[in-house]
Amino acid sequence: MKKDIGGRNCLYPLPTVLVGAQVNGRPNYITMAHVGIADPDSISLGMNKKHYTNIGIKENRSFSVNIPQESMVKVVDYCGIVSGKNEDKSALFKTFYGKLATAPMIEECPICMECELVTTVDFPNHDLFIGKVVATYIDEEAMTNGALDFSKIHPILFTMTDRSYYRVGERLAKGWTIGKEFKSPKDR
Ligand SMILES: Cc1cc2nc3c(=O)[nH]c(=O)nc-3n(C[C@H](O)[C@H](O)[C@H](O)COP(=O)(O)O)c2cc1C
Repeated sequence: MKKDIGGRNCLYPLPTVLVGAQVNGRPNYITMAHVGIADPDSISLGMNKKHYTNIGIKENRSFSVNIPQESMVKVVDYCGIVSGKNEDKSALFKTFYGKLATAPMIEECPICMECELVTTVDFPNHDLFIGKVVATYIDEEAMTNGALDFSKIHPILFTMTDRSYYRVGERLAKGWTIGKEFKSPKDR
């Protein structure tokens, strides 16, 4: 028996990222989990309008999406507790810039994506920012034969249902492959 718990969004776990933006001339970093893939080259961010980071994204029309590792969980949570309105978060990480020059990125993160703002959807309480990924910077140690190897990084997952962080488990099966073993009812 299933129970209806009301219209609650349970689309978790989601990856936890640090979004970077240049605000009032300084890098600012915000923890985000409501992040998605809009089209293969684009990333969406559901960001509450009260956040300090929104100012920089709107002003510079750019942001970065950085994938932190398990070892960074304390600073990741901190960036989700403290606002740049009250605390300077610019020195928490070693910052670097790419081609856009206004999307601060985090050296300590194995994957950093530099994004150009394409459009903003104006929800009552949230800005849905959609950015095109214009460059992706990956630690060489996170690659195998020139391709990103997720077994070499340790991304952090987050669920709002219990407000907790989780780690990624082992590979279950190969996509576009395991389904070939499925026997449709008509063939059983
Ligand atoms: C794990 C975690 C995930 C979060 N995800 C989001 C999110 O997806 N969208 C959002 O608007 N705020 C999210 N927040 C809240 C912001 O990170 C937090 O309010 C932050 O302090 C805002 O920083 P800023 O004012 O410097 O931009 C999250 C916080 C945590 C701890």
